[in-house]
Order: sequence, then structure tokens, then C-alpha cells
Amino acid sequence: MPMTGELSPIDKAKFVAAKRAVEFVESGMRVGLGTGSTAAWMVRCLGERVRDEGLNILGVATSTRTADLAREMGIEVISLDEAKWLDITIDGADEFDRDLNLIKGGGGALLQEKIVATASDRMVVITDVSKQVETLGAFPLPIEVIPFGWQTTKALVEETLVSLDVLGQEVTLRMNGEAPYVTDEGNRILDLHLHRIGNARQLSLVINQIPGVVENGLFIDICDAVVIGFGNGKVEVRDVSAGTVEQELVEFAETDNIFTDLTD
Ligand code: 5RP
Repeated sequence: MPMTGELSPIDKAKFVAAKRAVEFVESGMRVGLGTGSTAAWMVRCLGERVRDEGLNILGVATSTRTADLAREMGIEVISLDEAKWLDITIDGADEFDRDLNLIKGGGGALLQEKIVATASDRMVVITDVSKQVETLGAFPLPIEVIPFGWQTTKALVEETLVSLDVLGQEVTLRMNGEAPYVTDEGNRILDLHLHRIGNARQLSLVINQIPGVVENGLFIDICDAVVIGFGNGKVEVRDVSAGTVEQELVEFAETDNIFTDLTD
């Protein structure tokens, strides 16, 4: 694993966003742990606080890969049913707009991510600035569908899109090499290439009505704050609930253990 000095600007942006966001976590909290490359930095940063400061937390992971990484980092992982309710969830996103509505699921974990985020007092998104959009939809919207009759479900989704306020209507089955991608719940992912989503709230409600659709990757009114990282180490914290925007520089040492103790 490279030392900080060798990190690309994008990785540095993800890292500083993660490093700042874990400052929201306090001992005694039950913490939702997101999935993806930015969330992986957050799990490492949290693990560092557990190890160095004795931070006492319980983590609920949004995927098996996050659960594995969290345990590796020394974070105690419990199920959502054991936790029942969470103080905070920190996760990445594929897109966010000015109201902090999101597209998630690029990493295929949208279902558990949405359940966990919704079960949290507070959801904080960590991201780099490239994910900020005026209107959601340039990133293909993932929807999770059950395997039974998925082609019929796909056809129904395509038919539904015709009457919705979107620019594109192509729907593709997500693949993992030669085989369909399989989620942690054993489902499939359809990616909706919409280009522009005129009414995200309506789309989310209508898509979820289609039999076979388990959940979609639109997170509407779920995210409370976003921590945007920049390649120069700066972060911007936008809190939509508090109506505040703050900028600061995240300090970190290039010899930080976090860059040297990883096996993945
Ligand atoms: C996984 C997600 C991720 O949070 C999203 O894809 C962003 O990932 P990354 O931080 O790797 O860009 O929704 O399902």
C-alpha cells in the first residue's frame, strides 16, 4: 500500500473526506459502515481511532466486503438486527445534488446501504467533488431485482421509463465478467442509463412499484451532510439539516499507520 505522498489526488480527496467524517463518531455509538473505495478509507480511519484512541463503537456493515475489512481493522461488527438503530452511517455515493439527494449502488450494495442509512439518526456522505451534479442521472441508476423473472422485470422497467421524465431509457444487466453480478442478497442489478432524471422522487416511487424490483439507488431525503474532499487536503462539510457549510484543511502524517498496516 502506498504512503500518503504517493496517493493520487483522487485517493487523497477520498481519504481526507473519510478522515474528517470519522470525527463525527463518538464512543458508544452504533455506526453504519458504507461500501466502496471511499467508504473503505473511512473504515480504515475508524479502525485507526479504535486502535489508537480506544474508541468504543459497534459497526453495522452494508456488505460482506465492508464487514471483512472492518473486522480486519479491529472494529466489532454486529448485525442490524442486533443494533436495531444506529447513531450515524457514513457512506460514499456515485452522485449527489445540492439537496443531498443521491445515486448509490455503483458498488452493488444499494439495498443494504439504503436499509442501514434509513435506520440511522444521521447519514453522512463522503465523496470527492467530481460526484457533485446539478441534476441526478448521468451515473446509471442501479436497481436491485430478484433473479426470478428478471427479464420480465427488465421489460416492465423499460415500459415504465417511457412515461417518466428521463432523457435515456436503456436498461442493462450488470455483469461480473461473463456472469451476471450477484448482490449480497443473491439478487441481480439492472443499470438504468437515464442521463438526466427530471423527477427523482417520482421515479423512485414508481420504479419500486414494479414486481421484482427490490429497491433502487436513489436516496431521497436520507442524507444529512456531505463531506467533500479535495486533492489538496481541503474538505468542505455541508450540513443540509443545520444549513451550514464549513471548509478546513485535514492534517495527516505521511507515516500514518493507516497506510502501512493494510493487507488488501
Ligand atoms: C456502493 C456505493 C458506493 O458508495 C458508491 O458506488 C461510491 O463508491 P466509491 O467510493 O468507490 O466511488 O453506492 O454500492
